[in-house]
Amino acid sequence: MKEVKRITTHVILNMKKQGEKISMLTAYDYSMARILDEAGIEILLVGDSASNVMAGHETTLPITLDQMIYHAQSVIRAVKRSLVVVDLPFGSYQGNPMKALESAIRIMKESGAHAVKLEGGSEIIESVVRILSAGIPVMGHLGLTPQSIYKFGTYTVRAKEEDEAAKLKEDAILLAETGCFGIVLEKIPAHLAKEVSESISIPTIGIGAGRYTDGQVLVSHDLLGITKDFKPRFLRRYLELYETIMMAAQEYAQDVKSGDFPNEKEQY
Ligand code: KIV
Repeated sequence: MKEVKRITTHVILNMKKQGEKISMLTAYDYSMARILDEAGIEILLVGDSASNVMAGHETTLPITLDQMIYHAQSVIRAVKRSLVVVDLPFGSYQGNPMKALESAIRIMKESGAHAVKLEGGSEIIESVVRILSAGIPVMGHLGLTPQSIYKFGTYTVRAKEEDEAAKLKEDAILLAETGCFGIVLEKIPAHLAKEVSESISIPTIGIGAGRYTDGQVLVSHDLLGITKDFKPRFLRRYLELYETIMMAAQEYAQDVKSGDFPNEKEQY
């Protein structure tokens, strides 16, 4: 059997050095993770967007640490090659570095994931330091940070003003110097993402941050067109599965009702 070379944080860091772009997608369950891993996606993110996509909440705030661990366990069972990064959910790390460390340790120990992701810059840096000191790789997340949605008030582009852009640049340098292996940049102007990407040695992974980041991430349900009405400018939908699944389900219901399914060959 062919040996699979695992993607590690070192591979990810080297990809930036080599100028090779990094692909990252969200995964929350075994079946999808298996496909994405086999497709060659380098990083699978067990994102707290599971709160929206899997559980139907309006925001990412309600999802719990136990629920994130459940999703991460399902993803890990499928993965042979990809690096699996898990979001620390809202309330599991802010304001208390020891709690952050405990949350990160639970994720690593109970799911077998490879790294964690936290939202924020200088405000959460002590938590980042604590987690890193336990040997747990950390990915940062700057720009639009959905766990702070009630502070921002909207999901519009962040850091358009000079003061917010300056803070974001400082935070990116701080996270890189502290030892993070990558940073997600969400919904910021492309020129700012370019400047940040060029000013740090760790990879930036953009979502709605233009083409100059070192990699890209999307929520897989958006890329596949499973989420129905979510069509922001930054999103490229590679399939329209909402309609496809709807048609399959309708056809199945018709076949059941007409007695066409199951037929002679589909029974024992
Ligand atoms: O939770 C998530 O899906 C994310 C991505 C949008 C980066 O954090």
